[in-house]
Amino acid sequence: MIATEPYRPKQFNLSGLNGISDKTLEMHFKLYEGYVKETNNLSERIAEFLKDGKVDQDEMPIYSELKRRLGFEFNGMGLHDCYFSNLKKDGGGEPETRSVFFSAAESSFGSYDIWKADFVGVGKMRGVGWAICYEQPDTGRLSNHWISLHEIGEVAGFNPVLVMDVWEHAFLFDYKPADRPKYIEAFFSNIDWQAVENRLKHVKGDKATVSR
Ligand SMILES: [Fe+2]
Repeated sequence: MIATEPYRPKQFNLSGLNGISDKTLEMHFKLYEGYVKETNNLSERIAEFLKDGKVDQDEMPIYSELKRRLGFEFNGMGLHDCYFSNLKKDGGGEPETRSVFFSAAESSFGSYDIWKADFVGVGKMRGVGWAICYEQPDTGRLSNHWISLHEIGEVAGFNPVLVMDVWEHAFLFDYKPADRPKYIEAFFSNIDWQAVENRLKHVKGDKATVSR
């Protein structure tokens, strides 16, 4: 029996951000809902193929294409959830110097500023995709990665703790395409650092124990 319970879009109580307009957010929520809807559609169609308990050879081309698309839609759903959840009105500033995140950034990069320079650098890379700071759960070590589209470059087993959408739809109402750095600055001024902190899994005592 295949679980057929559909995914439901979450509601994000997000407006009045600094430098990211409500118009952008409302459009972006709709896009996110589209990913949830398409994830459900594809899951249903794939379940149809599996009803007889197997995927026949002649079904394989269509089945394969649906599965590939599912990877795109599924990650589009999940990453937007992470993105909206790590923003808040009156957020921003810097993480608490006593926070596990700050400590992990220092241990992993030498300093918080170097971590930030790397994350921002990833965000400025050409192309559409995402900048993601991941935590390696076993060690608490942080690393920043570029994800093309939604699904190419995800790091197996790593935990996304800070997720920044740098597809142009994330800022085109507010900034010109060439002004992505201004959007990145705005993103940083709205980060919910407590949400980031809560995502960390490698928490031992008051500080992260980071090994290199
Ligand atoms: Fe997006």
